[in-house]
Amino acid sequence: MTKEVNIDWSNLSFSYMKTDLRYISKWKDGKWDDGQLVEDNKLSISEASTALHYGQQCFEGLKAYRTKENKIQLFRPDENAKRMQRSCDTLLMPKFPVERFVDACKQVVKANEAYVPPYGTGATLYLRPFMIGVGDNVGVKPAPEYIFCLFCVPVGPYFKGGMTPVNFIISENFDRAAPYGTGGVKVGGNYAASLVAHKNAVDKGFADCIYLDPKTHTKIEEVGAANFFGITHDNKFITPISDSILPSITKYSLLHIAKEYLNMETIEGDVYIDEIDQFKEAGACGTAAVITPIGGIQHKDKLHVFYSETEVGPITKKLYDTLYGIQFGDVKAPEGWIFEVE
Ligand code: PLP
Ligand code: COI
Repeated sequence: MTKEVNIDWSNLSFSYMKTDLRYISKWKDGKWDDGQLVEDNKLSISEASTALHYGQQCFEGLKAYRTKENKIQLFRPDENAKRMQRSCDTLLMPKFPVERFVDACKQVVKANEAYVPPYGTGATLYLRPFMIGVGDNVGVKPAPEYIFCLFCVPVGPYFKGGMTPVNFIISENFDRAAPYGTGGVKVGGNYAASLVAHKNAVDKGFADCIYLDPKTHTKIEEVGAANFFGITHDNKFITPISDSILPSITKYSLLHIAKEYLNMETIEGDVYIDEIDQFKEAGACGTAAVITPIGGIQHKDKLHVFYSETEVGPITKKLYDTLYGIQFGDVKAPEGWIFEVE
């Protein structure tokens, strides 16, 4: 019998809670060990670990969903596994095999089944895989050893209010990534670089900031923890293209959904900040953010409002309903998107 946990599922926020078991595998002498589930949520590592000094670490984020039929499913975990491999290549870390990554997700979800929120609450089980360079080393070079770990937490919306529009502000003084830097992979340094800009945005009453391209500062790149999309007045779905933004799995899923499910024209292209009035609706998308409607964007001294600061636009709503429906098993998913946890 599954154990009972006392959680107010409908009022969960995006915050940490210790769950029962996490998966750990260690890399040493050129190979990964067999991996295991452990109870302890603390890692004991050398003070000279590269992850602590030189940011040699990467992570992922994906979710498990409980369906109406009480099944549990993962959304495109193989894509997260492949993206983590690209992060590993970028930081000279050993790759964790795709099949083992997906298997670790399933093991952790199964072992923490009691924490998978009930269908209908809107909450999900967020999985956080990460890899760190560890071992004794003080020079700037790749670590001699690595740890792959994957834990889970039940979560609610990342941006307060979920499907209620929020306002963002263009970051004027900080870039999150450099033109030929690490913006296209999911490494901790990008997020460390975003902390001040995020705080400045929140202090001014915005949900987060939006970064412009680091080379010319004329094009929208992405939000600190999500990609950007806009819907033009003639119903095109447009999302920025750039080597310095994270290739969001949600964004690529929405490009497919907009085209194949909603018959929209879709474009991955340049989105100039001076041309945002081409959009009647806009949103932030990502695993944690799901789809968060953007009420308005503050740029310099002007707030540009899209559909409404209080109501979600009809196309954003359709995109959300379709994505959410696929993730929770109510809408037929494209082949290969859903992995059941049995
Ligand atoms: N951009 C950034 C900087 C992110 O941290 C995330 C979150 O993972 C995303 C975009 C969205 O990516 P995904 O849809 O794969 O979660
Ligand atoms: C995600 O959406 O999975 C993210 O990684 C965003 C954030 C919590 C860093």
